[in-house]
Amino acid sequence: MTDPMDVHKKTAARRAADMVKSGMVVGIGTGSTAAFMIERLGERIREEGLEIVGIPTSDDSEDKAVHAGIPLTDFAAHRRIDLAIDGADEVQRGSLHLVKGLGGALLREKIVATAARKFVVIVDGRKPVDLLGERAPVPVEVIPFGWECTAEYLASCGARGVKPRQDRNGGLFVSDNGNMVLDCHFGPIEDPEALARKIDAIVGVVEHGMFLNMASEVLVATEQGIERWEP
Ligand code: A5P
Repeated sequence: MTDPMDVHKKTAARRAADMVKSGMVVGIGTGSTAAFMIERLGERIREEGLEIVGIPTSDDSEDKAVHAGIPLTDFAAHRRIDLAIDGADEVQRGSLHLVKGLGGALLREKIVATAARKFVVIVDGRKPVDLLGERAPVPVEVIPFGWECTAEYLASCGARGVKPRQDRNGGLFVSDNGNMVLDCHFGPIEDPEALARKIDAIVGVVEHGMFLNMASEVLVATEQGIERWEP
């Protein structure tokens, strides 16, 4: 089904893809907005002879990148990424803190963003919020063993609902890393740093979807054009 926001996603995605230069190692994000960026990189490789290598953040993005003709590499060959480009589910105005992971790829996305010299986030006008958690749950990737206990610890951090993510067929969602994702509904989060510290300390948690102080810039595409936000 086509999303009415596709035109905005595409605008932001193409602008970010046009920031890529030959010789770069590029972090390739996951999701419907990142898919437009992958498409544009493929176009530039074919039309301009852009020479890059990419590190994808999910199996799905790997498939899309291969299809687009983007040569891939990995962390065995490159410890640092020049530019990572990815979507987000929420962007907090001002701080540019993010919630990511509604597509289930948060762990690899965070590894790639952490290794990136520059991390550009591409969103449409539905994603900005005043406080993280306003609209989206915080996805938390957990080890399947004992997840019921992990879910209780997460609830004790203030999550009003902690639900195992389901796949499209109603079965249990399994991440590319073989883990589960628990969607945690905190509501508006006043102090994301404090919450992140608590979640990081829970045994069984692999990673959470709050990306704090990580975005170098955010491109927000709306009817009015593209706004470029920096922290
Ligand atoms: C994938 O795990 C996510 O972090 C995506 O980057 C995020 O969900 C944004 O996806 P869309 O671009 O499809 O909204």
